[in-house]
Amino acid sequence: QTLILEICREEHLNALNKDLISSLEDALNKAEKDTKARSLIIVGKGQRAFVAGADIKEFQNFNKKEAHKLSTQGKEKLFDKIANFNKPVISAINGYALGGGLELALSSHIRIASSSAKFGLPECTLGLIPGYGGTQRLPKIVGVGHAMEMILTGKMVDAEDAYKMGLVNHIVNPENLIEKCLSITKLFQNTSPESLSAAIKSINYSFVNNGCKIESEEFSRLFETQNFKEGVSSFLQKRRPNFNK
Ligand code: COA
Repeated sequence: QTLILEICREEHLNALNKDLISSLEDALNKAEKDTKARSLIIVGKGQRAFVAGADIKEFQNFNKKEAHKLSTQGKEKLFDKIANFNKPVISAINGYALGGGLELALSSHIRIASSSAKFGLPECTLGLIPGYGGTQRLPKIVGVGHAMEMILTGKMVDAEDAYKMGLVNHIVNPENLIEKCLSITKLFQNTSPESLSAAIKSINYSFVNNGCKIESEEFSRLFETQNFKEGVSSFLQKRRPNFNK
């Protein structure tokens, strides 16, 4: 059996706010204990977005301490939980996967993209850096060169470019996205569940370092800068930012 977890906040392009993170955490806790379920597929509701990032409106007035909590608790409750899940997690990327949305896909074990998907870590254009593991997971998956370009420029890449750099495993037509994910989950039926959780744990161990701690410290420090305030207000006012050089 495969569980499908749909992220439902369509009118805000499924941006992750506090309530959404906590309902996803509850769903993951249930899925983890479900012994009949062999795998999990995560998809965004609607045609436009997988997840367009953390909710910028919610964190715009956070101070350093609140930002640190946002980053560390988000990792613990959602992003690291997915990465260390006891069964394979596939992200079905149906549209925008930006910021925390791409970080969520990066935490999953396998990424499948619809041909209309778009990927990016735009945090530096907001006066921030990725705070949910993106600086750590992206270079592991696509290599330091592509990760540097994506993070330092904040630019979006399409599904074709994402595939070329190894960011996604397969591209399919939008209407075939879930079907493709299910065809992969079928292959798990030939494997032992204990083997899969042991393999996930072992692969993740190649990755243990201090980087996530440093990322949360740097992410939260930036909340005290004038450029962060400018970056976020320019997004909300739908204009280009005017950063201090
Ligand atoms: N946080 C909060 N709200 C968000 C959001 C986010 N990350 N991403 C989108 N939304 C909201 C928009 O503010 C808008 O709300 P409004 O109708 O109240 O103005 C709504 O979702 C639709 O988005 P809109 O920007 O109007 O759609 P678009 O097609 O013009 O642009 C994007 C789509 C994804 C390019 C654009 O929404 C975007 O750049 N989002 C932010 C991405 C980002 O920087 N994420 C990282 C956050 S750390």
